[in-house]
Amino acid sequence: MSAPVGVFDSGVGGLSVLQEIQQLLPSESLLYVADSAYVPYGEKPPEQIRERSRLIARFLFEQGAKALVLACNTATAAAINELRGEFDMPIIGMEPAVKPAALATRNGVVGVLATTGTLQSAKFAALLDRFAGSVRVLTQPCPGLVECVERGELNGPEVEALLQRYTAPLLAAGCDTLILGCTHYPFLRPALQRILPAQIQVVDTGAAVARQLQVRLAESGLLAEPGQAITRFWSSGDPQLMGSILPTLLKVDGAVDILPV
Ligand code: DGL
Repeated sequence: MSAPVGVFDSGVGGLSVLQEIQQLLPSESLLYVADSAYVPYGEKPPEQIRERSRLIARFLFEQGAKALVLACNTATAAAINELRGEFDMPIIGMEPAVKPAALATRNGVVGVLATTGTLQSAKFAALLDRFAGSVRVLTQPCPGLVECVERGELNGPEVEALLQRYTAPLLAAGCDTLILGCTHYPFLRPALQRILPAQIQVVDTGAAVARQLQVRLAESGLLAEPGQAITRFWSSGDPQLMGSILPTLLKVDGAVDILPV
């Protein structure tokens, strides 16, 4: 079996990216870490996110990871530069899909749903400078949504009330395209689409990150040979809780081990 790819997030949100990787690259074995003891990252200081990201990247490296996917917009904004300086392996990050949304919008008004940490980062400011062009980009931090997904709550009154509250100002301002700028939010897509007018386009970056991983592995001669792949899970929080939520999010059962960092 070829060496695995490490994937991590503050919690279960990165499973939305893991799913895309499994679909595109079914022969790649994957090691997934949920830093559930520290979720949400979105309201935490960047120094703390950097420290957690370094510890988890080291753990995955020591487990034999040949590449790392930061399946977290907030951790990418806070830590990817440092990680790339420290670890000698391909490191793929995520950022809100501003470029595709700027191409897709018909009326030139785009909304971004993301964490406070992502929206306040220098990386996000640079992304807007580079790709927004003449498109008006409105941002909306969404405290509380990540916690719902962490509880496995993808529908229901609380989720709907939060989604209504966060999308209302963006719709009122005329956005015709919404960016899901946090890897937890794709799990709320069905609930979101129930409350959005049909003409609103919703974009996220999971599939693009899987394609980027494929390109980087191919460039480095690291793609796995066709064959049986395994996926292992760790959580720094309650592994039983994560184990009970996994089948809701991924349609697979999996044992979850305790992350020793
Ligand atoms: N899923 C993460 C992201 O993409 C972080 C969510 C959080 O922990 O606040 O930003």
